[in-house]
Amino acid sequence: MILVQISDTHIDEPDTLVYGHFDTSLALAQAVAAINAMDPAPDLVLHTGDIASHGSVPRYEAFKAIVDELKAPLALMPGNHDDRDALREVFGGTQRLPATGDFLHFVIDDQTVRIICCDSVIAGDTPGEMCAERLAWLDEQLGAATDRPTIVALHHPPFYSGMTGSSAKGLKNGGGELDALLRRHPQVVRVLAGHSHRPMTTAFGGTIAFAGPTTCYPFGLDTGPERVLNVTYEPPAYAVHLWLGDASPAGADLVTHTVPIGDWPAPMALLKAGVKVLDV
Ligand SMILES: [Fe+2]
Ligand SMILES: [Fe+2]
Repeated sequence: MILVQISDTHIDEPDTLVYGHFDTSLALAQAVAAINAMDPAPDLVLHTGDIASHGSVPRYEAFKAIVDELKAPLALMPGNHDDRDALREVFGGTQRLPATGDFLHFVIDDQTVRIICCDSVIAGDTPGEMCAERLAWLDEQLGAATDRPTIVALHHPPFYSGMTGSSAKGLKNGGGELDALLRRHPQVVRVLAGHSHRPMTTAFGGTIAFAGPTTCYPFGLDTGPERVLNVTYEPPAYAVHLWLGDASPAGADLVTHTVPIGDWPAPMALLKAGVKVLDV
C-alpha cells in the first residue's frame, strides 16, 4: 500500500497571492502533477486539512477543479482554516469526505492499513482539541478492528513542536487523553497530522507521530527566544507512507518518506536492477 499525504494547501481566491507571494493554487497543481507521475501510483491520497486559507464554497470548488486531475482517490479532512458547512456542501457524503455530521470524521476501511480520520477543529479557533465526544468515537473505532494495522489522522499535531514562534502544540485540549487512549490500542502504526507546514516526527501514544509538509509555503524552523514564525521559500513537499508488511524485516512495516516538489535537472541513475550504471 502506498499512501500519499498532502496537507495545508491553503487555496485562496483565483489569482490571489497568499501573503503577496504564494500562488497556492499553482502549487497544488504542481503537487497533483508530481503525484500523478509516481510509478507505481499511490493507492490513496490523504489531505490532512487546511484545504483553503479561509473555507468557503467558491474556494472548495476551486480546490475541487484542481484535485479532479488526481488519478488516485482522495480523502479530505478539515483543518482550522476550513469551514465545516462549506466543506459539507461541496464534499460531504462523497467518497472524498464520507462524513456529514457535526464532526467531519470517518474511517477508511478498504485499504491494507485502516485509516481513522479525526476532526480536531474548534470552529473559529487556531488550536484544535480532542474533546470527550471525539475521544469516545475514536476509542470505539479502534476497538472495532483491533487486529488491523491502523493510522490515526488529525489536522493538529498532538505534540509540542519545539517551534517557539507557532502555537506550543496543535491541540488545546485532549492531547494527554489521546496519548493514553492510543497506548491502549497497539495496532496504531502511525499518528498523522498537518498544520505545522513542515515535516516533524516524534514518539506519541506508544507509536510514532508524524506531521506532514505543506504543498504551499513551509514555515521555517524557528526554535529561538525571539519567537519568530517565518514563511519561507523552502520547497513544498508531500509525504509517502509505504506499507511494507511482510516484505519488511520486523519492526518497520510503515516507512515514511518526504518528497520535495519543484523543478530540478533530471536525476542521474547510479544503479539499475542492482547493477552499477554510472561510475564516479
Ligand atoms: Fe495550515
Ligand atoms: Fe492548521
